[in-house]
Amino acid sequence: MLIRVLSIHPAHAFRMAMPLSHSPLLKSPSYLLLRHHSFAPPSLYRFLSFRSLSSPLSSPFSSLSSNRSSKKWKQPIAALLEIGGVKIAKDDVVKENDPTNNVPDTIFSKLGVELHRRDNHPIGILKNAIYDYFDTNFPAKFVKFDDLCPIVSIKENFDDVLVPADHISRSYNDTYYVDAQTVLRCHTSAHQAELLRKGHSHFLVTGDVYRRDSIDSTHYPVFHQMEGVRVFSPDDWAGSGMDATSYVAMDLKKSLEGLAKHLFGAVDMRWVDTYFPFTNPSFELEIFFQEKWMEVLGCGVTEQEILRRSGRMDGVAWAFGLGLERLAMVLFDIPDIRLFWSTDQRFTSQFSEGKLGIKFQPFSKYPPCYKDMSFWISDSFTENNLCEVVRGIAGDLVEEVQLIDNFTNKKGMTSHCYRIAYRSMERSLTDEEINQLQGRVREAVQSKLNVVLR
Ligand code: PHE
Repeated sequence: MLIRVLSIHPAHAFRMAMPLSHSPLLKSPSYLLLRHHSFAPPSLYRFLSFRSLSSPLSSPFSSLSSNRSSKKWKQPIAALLEIGGVKIAKDDVVKENDPTNNVPDTIFSKLGVELHRRDNHPIGILKNAIYDYFDTNFPAKFVKFDDLCPIVSIKENFDDVLVPADHISRSYNDTYYVDAQTVLRCHTSAHQAELLRKGHSHFLVTGDVYRRDSIDSTHYPVFHQMEGVRVFSPDDWAGSGMDATSYVAMDLKKSLEGLAKHLFGAVDMRWVDTYFPFTNPSFELEIFFQEKWMEVLGCGVTEQEILRRSGRMDGVAWAFGLGLERLAMVLFDIPDIRLFWSTDQRFTSQFSEGKLGIKFQPFSKYPPCYKDMSFWISDSFTENNLCEVVRGIAGDLVEEVQLIDNFTNKKGMTSHCYRIAYRSMERSLTDEEINQLQGRVREAVQSKLNVVLR
C-alpha cells in the first residue's frame, strides 16, 4: 500500500524526484526500493519486449474490434504525422529492435492528438482561459507556443534544465525513450532553454507530456502541461528596493495567485516551499477546494545557470509548470482522467469553446470488475513496467492497478498481488470480455516481465 502513496503524480514528478540528498523520503525503505528499480540501466530492460505487445494481433483494441458493439474504441494509429512542421513516421518512434526504445504503440497513438489545441475540449478550454488571464494582465506580452514537437533530446529535456545525471526522472522506468539520446518530453520545461536562447522573455508553452507511471483515476501516461516563463531585466527591479530574486519571486506569486483566482474564483490558497532542479527558490501553489488542499502547480525563480547558458547574463526569471488535467478535473468535475481521451459524444458534446464553468454530467456509471493476480517478482520488476503491459493489452478499459499484498518468504522470494480494476467509461463490459482480457494480461505479464505467476 505504501507504494501507492509514494507513486508520483504526473504534475509533480520533478518535485518528488529530487536527488536522494534532498529527499524527505530518504529513510523510507520502500522509496529506496523504488529508486533502486528505477535506476536499472537500459540493458536491464532488454528483456522487456514492448514491441511484441503492440503487434496488431495483441493491440488493446484488436480483440475488441471483432466485437461490433465496441468499434468506437478502435483508434487509428497513423503511420505518418506532422507536429509543428516535423514529419514523424511510426518507425521513428516505435523501434522494434532497439533496446534503448521503450515506446509502445499505445503511446505512439497519442502523438499528434493534441487535446490542448481543441477549443471545445476541456483541456483546450482551460488553455484558452489561462491565455485570457495573461492577455488581460500583460497585454501583448506573452508569446504562446502550443505545437512544439514532443520528441526532444535528453539535452533539452534534462541537461538544459540542470536535471542531475542520476535523477530518477531520467530512468527508463519513468521516461519514454525513443533512443538513448531522445525522449518523449516528460515536461514542457524541455523547451525553456531553446526559447530563452532565441531571445523570448515572456512565453507560454502548452503541450502533451509523457511519463511512465502507475494506473489510477488521476494517472495517465500522457497528459498536458503549460509552462510559463518571464525574464526581468535590471531596470525592472532597480527601483523596488528589493534584491532581484526576492522581487522576481514576489512577482511570480502575485501573478499566479491572480491566475488561480481567475480560474477558481475567490479561493483560499497557500504557498509550499519545494525543490526543483531548475528553480531556486521553488514553490508549489495549493488551493483549498472540495474540503482539501490541492497542489495545482510548481514554480520558482529560474536557476541563474540556465539564463547564463542561454546568453541572458543580466536577466532574472520566473518559471511555472502546471498540469492541465489536474486543474480541469476539478474545474469541470471530471472524475476519471481517461475521459479526456473519450470520443464518445456523450462526453465531447458537454463542452464548448470559452465555457469554463460547465460541470460534467456523468452519463452513467458502469460497474467495475476486479481481477487479482499474484506472482513472484524478480529484481528488475517495477510497477510502471507492469502498468505498461496491462495498458498495452487492456487500453483504456483498465481503471486502476493496485498492489494489495506483498510478502517475502523464507527463501527470499518476494510475491506481489495486484488488483486490476476494469471499467469502461462508455459501456458495460461482459464477463467473457473481461475474462479474455485478464487471460491475455496474465500471459503478457508472464512473458514480458520475468515474473512467475502463482
Ligand atoms: N517541470 C516541472 C514538473 O513537470 C514543473 C515546473 C516548471 C516547476 C517550471 C518549476 C518551474 O513537475
